[in-house]
Amino acid sequence: MIIFALPPHERLSRAIARALRARVGRVELRVFSDGERYVRPMTVVRSQDVVVIANTGPDAGALLDLLILLHAIRSSGARRTTLVIPYLAYARQDRATKPQEPVTAILVARLLESAGADRVVLVDPHSEAAVRTFRIPVRVVDPLPTLANPRHLSPSLRGGVGGGARDRDRRPVVVAPDAGARDRARRLAALLGARDIVVLEKARPRPNVARVALRTADRARVRGGAVLLVDDMIDTAGTITAAAQRLRAAGATRIAILATHAVLSGPALVRLRRARIDRIIVSDSLPSPRRSLRRRRALRTVSLAPALTQALQMTYRKKR
Ligand code: R5P
Repeated sequence: MIIFALPPHERLSRAIARALRARVGRVELRVFSDGERYVRPMTVVRSQDVVVIANTGPDAGALLDLLILLHAIRSSGARRTTLVIPYLAYARQDRATKPQEPVTAILVARLLESAGADRVVLVDPHSEAAVRTFRIPVRVVDPLPTLANPRHLSPSLRGGVGGGARDRDRRPVVVAPDAGARDRARRLAALLGARDIVVLEKARPRPNVARVALRTADRARVRGGAVLLVDDMIDTAGTITAAAQRLRAAGATRIAILATHAVLSGPALVRLRRARIDRIIVSDSLPSPRRSLRRRRALRTVSLAPALTQALQMTYRKKR
């Protein structure tokens, strides 16, 4: 097996290759003066099982590089290509809400399939609809058990997690910032044995703007204790910081965020700094957040390598 990676996943690919005893493939990447891109696999792929680890965004160049690499691998006679996508960009455009609105998630899936992906491994891909856009076999990796390791939480955040029934009242409450994160919150609560679950009400008056409300009946549940906010991604951080403000106003004493994808676009870093979050736990599906946030001891980046290694082992075991 040969494992190729596109930026930022070189380190992730080395960790997975070590665990699987696979070879790491070399890739030549260039951008010409006019902006055209050149991507060439330098390791011979003929008749080989190939794994490609790459995101489909957020920037358009990432998707283009991936399509070119897949095309080159297929044209060079690889036996089969498994595409691992730690962050599936465009998954949020998974349905049309206005006349003539494109379902871009479908377009991306078709492009990847026709460029050369034979099957795909996705990490926390935003919605079931985004998974169903693929016509090739899909395996979905759930990183929540990795992110939810109590070791990533300080004693004041994990409270009575891991303790007996008497510690129940000291355990954190898990909060979903919107109805879409309800199942995720349930799973996290089960993993950590949390005290309770609260689901906030979110409205989007316009794209990238979030308004979040906490029901009166739920205020007492969060008052005086630690809360764990859980979501699939932090993009502009509007959702998660609006949620944190509501929870603090209602009397939550400590706040942690667990999110798979740290997109962190636009005002995200400023918002997160202002929100004084006690701990932010994210995966390495996207480049590590800038130093300004990393320097604060609040941030923990958890590697997807073990979960992806296991997913690839299961994928290959099944196919052989
Ligand atoms: C929405 O459905 C997602 O689960 C996230 O809550 C959302 O994409 C986060 O975006 P932002 O950080 O820009 O509020």
